[in-house]
Amino acid sequence: MQIKSIPLASPLILAPLAGYTDLPFRILCRQFGAGLCYTEMISCHGLVYQKEKTLRMTRTISEERPVALQLFGSDPNMMGQAAALVSDMQVDIIDINMGCPVRKVTKKGSGAALMKDSRLAAKIISEVCKNTTLPVTVKIRTGWNHDSIVAPEFAKMAEDNGASAIAVHGRTWSQGFGGQVDWQTISQVKKNVSIPVIGNGDVDTYDAAILAMEKTGCDGIMIGRAALGNPWVFTPEGIPTSLVKRMAGLRRHLEIIRKFSNPDKTLAKIRNQAGRYFKGIAGGSSIRRQIYQARSFNEILELSAS
Ligand SMILES: Cc1cc2nc3c(=O)[nH]c(=O)nc-3n(C[C@H](O)[C@H](O)[C@H](O)COP(=O)(O)O)c2cc1C
Repeated sequence: MQIKSIPLASPLILAPLAGYTDLPFRILCRQFGAGLCYTEMISCHGLVYQKEKTLRMTRTISEERPVALQLFGSDPNMMGQAAALVSDMQVDIIDINMGCPVRKVTKKGSGAALMKDSRLAAKIISEVCKNTTLPVTVKIRTGWNHDSIVAPEFAKMAEDNGASAIAVHGRTWSQGFGGQVDWQTISQVKKNVSIPVIGNGDVDTYDAAILAMEKTGCDGIMIGRAALGNPWVFTPEGIPTSLVKRMAGLRRHLEIIRKFSNPDKTLAKIRNQAGRYFKGIAGGSSIRRQIYQARSFNEILELSAS
């Protein structure tokens, strides 16, 4: 799979997940075989106003590339300015979030709300494209609700305004993260555009990703929740059933965290991520308990080395 001039080593892609797809987790997933990883969504206002917390989220390193940075916002001018700033960063692709269902985002007209306003969405995409030479991708849902499944036309509009690929989460805004994934609409998107299409929604194994590509004709598959505590999802072998191997995976993640962040400042987040390595495995609940009770990063690290 290739996005404009950027070749991907695998069509399996790590989805943007706010609170999770930080630098260490992206590095880990790339090491396990993800062809591309997306940052968490990043506010165009935060970037333009140079907010410290936002700027921290834009950090990338060469060994994780190619990497896609996801922007959100509803003001075409601001989005264009943010795109110009991102173009000077160590980033390969700019993605525009047009699928986030969270009220805090949609009430300001960003995220999935843009699927109700195709003209504004078109302006945003063209303004972002005008301000960068990087490939621009757009992440959408199938529509706003059951009565407005607009993804095929919306994707064509994105292509006509300069997008180099489209990622489609096969649910409407009103479905949130529940209900069935609509792979049929994703197939229709693929038929309606000539740029690459990335399907997304509930894919939880490598084999399921390959099957979804075969069924829909999609060029790639984006995996989100199933990658949490399970970077093996990007490998044909899948998640190990042995506790020792799961521990080794966690240790690798923790070592990357130690190298690239300030772990004691983000302990709650690390506990949450670490605990996920031991879901659905015999003996896992007692390890999870120890992780949640840990009072320092080193305690979790020592546990993973035991
Ligand atoms: C905790 C969480 C955070 C998310 N953050 C983002 C985000 O920042 N940007 C975005 O486009 N989608 C975001 N999503 C949606 C995912 O990228 C993805 O489309 C969705 O989870 C469906 O894929 P999955 O079933 O493989 O998880 C988020 C989803 C979850 C569960």
